[in-house]
Amino acid sequence: MKKRISESIRRVDAVDKAGGVTKYLSDMGFEDLQYGRLVRALRSHARIRSISCPDLPEGYYFITKDDIPAGGRNEIQQIGNDWPVFVADEVMFYGETVGMLVGPDRQTILELEDQIEIEYEDLLPALTIDEGLALKSGKIFGEHNTFGDYDLNKGDVEAGFKKAVTIFEDEITTGYQEHVYMEPQGIVGYYDDEDRFVLVASCQCPFYLRKAVGNVLNIDKKRIVVRQAVTGGAFGGKEHFPDIIAAPLVVAVNKVRKPIQVVFDRKEDISFTAKRHPSRGRFRTGLDADGNIVAMEVDVTINAGAYMSCSNIVLQRAIFSINSVYNIENVHVRGRSVATNCFPSDAFRGFGAPQGIFLAEMHMSHIARSLGISPLEYKRQRFMKQGDTTITNGIMHDIVKLEEMVDVVDEDSGFIRKLGSYTPGKGKGIGIAFYQHGAGFTGNGEQEIIKAELKMRKHKDGTVEILLSNVEMGQGLQTTFPKIAAAVLGIPIEKISCDNPDTSVVPDSGPTVASRSLMVVGKLVERASLKLKAQWEEGEEVEVTVHYVHPEGLSWNQETLQGDAYPAFGWGVCVIEVEVDPATGEVETKGIWTAHDIGVAIDEMIVHGQVNGGVVQALGYGSLEKLEYRDGRFVQNTLADYIIPTSMDFPMMHSHLVENPYENGPYGAKGLGELVFDGAAAAFADAVEHAIGKNLYRIPVTPEYIMEVKSRA
Ligand code: MTE
Ligand code: MOS
Repeated sequence: MKKRISESIRRVDAVDKAGGVTKYLSDMGFEDLQYGRLVRALRSHARIRSISCPDLPEGYYFITKDDIPAGGRNEIQQIGNDWPVFVADEVMFYGETVGMLVGPDRQTILELEDQIEIEYEDLLPALTIDEGLALKSGKIFGEHNTFGDYDLNKGDVEAGFKKAVTIFEDEITTGYQEHVYMEPQGIVGYYDDEDRFVLVASCQCPFYLRKAVGNVLNIDKKRIVVRQAVTGGAFGGKEHFPDIIAAPLVVAVNKVRKPIQVVFDRKEDISFTAKRHPSRGRFRTGLDADGNIVAMEVDVTINAGAYMSCSNIVLQRAIFSINSVYNIENVHVRGRSVATNCFPSDAFRGFGAPQGIFLAEMHMSHIARSLGISPLEYKRQRFMKQGDTTITNGIMHDIVKLEEMVDVVDEDSGFIRKLGSYTPGKGKGIGIAFYQHGAGFTGNGEQEIIKAELKMRKHKDGTVEILLSNVEMGQGLQTTFPKIAAAVLGIPIEKISCDNPDTSVVPDSGPTVASRSLMVVGKLVERASLKLKAQWEEGEEVEVTVHYVHPEGLSWNQETLQGDAYPAFGWGVCVIEVEVDPATGEVETKGIWTAHDIGVAIDEMIVHGQVNGGVVQALGYGSLEKLEYRDGRFVQNTLADYIIPTSMDFPMMHSHLVENPYENGPYGAKGLGELVFDGAAAAFADAVEHAIGKNLYRIPVTPEYIMEVKSRA
């Protein structure tokens, strides 16, 4: 019998990675390698009066914006071009790049760094969402101190509120989160023999990186080559942030003309890289006499920090997720990404959805509890169904299998029974959360911006190469892509290779983000494989190219943010059971159960790896990972005070997959890498609410916060 695609095979990268054989950036040798270290402004908002640098020993350089070559610009090309390579007129956040010290010996560089003196004229910083919103002037903050300010309207909120007999209000917030990818940020830059500028980087988006530095040196992008180094996890943190390191690095390499390596140490990485956006949701919900939601007003703000990066797209996903899996008739949402003098926030697994869904789930639970109805009963009555109108007034095209998923998880966890038998407030609690994740880019991003291209080459010896720009970062692409090709071509997977991308070799199949790679690029692999199979000739070299084709029946307007925001959704249910120590507020997680609809699993073991990792990462977000921003900087900056989960903190997980093939995904697969992050924090908080008999309004739910809430009247 033919093997099903979902049956697991051994991961292509497993043995070398587990065995410590794989070479990461720091393990790679380069002749005459120099070290670079970013010199930072240690002020949140200031003008720089002067910079004094000691006399440098021979072979050492202090690179500043004066070293940007003629024709080049102090500007990193991202979604907006507002983030400068080196501090422009004003220091906008604590840790902004002033220059780069370069030389052959790391210790000497650290000593020289101590001798650099920067004189500042301090300006008033805005460090919180409210301070950001209150600041009414300042050139960089634009007119309203927001990068994005959107309104979404569904139904008729005003008419809805007229039918309301009670108004339920809530304010819920979420905090920063650090990615803690395995190896910190790192890039090596050099000129090669062909006078091309080469960047070897731990990154998710080689073509983004190439574009980002183009204006800085003012050279043709074809002369810039980006090679992805083995990337041991990225989680969105290596989507745009590598640009911030690469830009000063190219200026340094241009001057020094030797290979230069910039690798952050862990403390530097936690202190000075972008994080998940903190968010605040303010709800005003109108309920009729039966407790039905007749209108909902939501104000969502996220702290974007000092430069735009991808904050507006994160904001869009956050507000598109604010009704989570529920069909609410009349809704108005205002969403703002607020400019502050904080470290710019950036992509992080889920890209705004975890924030939106946490806010939504908690609010829905709070309403249910206030009505004396179990959150499960209240929520399931409002589940979105196929054909319903989405929050962006698009159509829900998916067959929604949430009911089936609830049943599967309930059977396994005993949710309904436990919910009934644990008296609220007595220390035992069980919580549930529902979530969805629009797979792939928002709206017509694939069609209008990315325009993915992919090649496959069959060599004379019968081996096949897949040429694309998506990276392996732990989510399994170097196994799943060849697996798809092998299944279509009917050849052993060992004959197929899919290497770390090099922009001078591969076509641009887009960035490794938005859970798009497996679904969208994987579909291209499937199509290219079919094409190659049709043209297959023994002993000959054959090359095929395919381009992205947008699914039919979707409409989207990027100006108004109206229509089908995503081509398909992944769906999830997570149940968490806890016991809270009455004396200390410490929480022991007794059980974790999940069900996910990700279309079809391309490899079950890899999917379970994603589920385990995503859920635990979200539980860290919801319970342990406290990251405060005080006096304009991150307070926690080592793995001793920023606490992430270990295998000791959470029990074995019980996970189910509910199959629901998606026609535009390879073998029916949908994107899943972020979905699995979206719900566990809310399930955890819901369980703790049950256990302590009180509502919670923020994450992380630490023992300190639990004790604070318990002591409240
Ligand atoms: N899993 C591992 N092990 N490492 C990662 O860095 N990144 C996540 C998720 N799962 C990540 C991961 C993020 S942020 C995204 S967008 C998706 O994987 C990417 O999935 P894709 O390869 O299908 O695009
Ligand atoms: Mo993932 S946050 O889209 O890299």
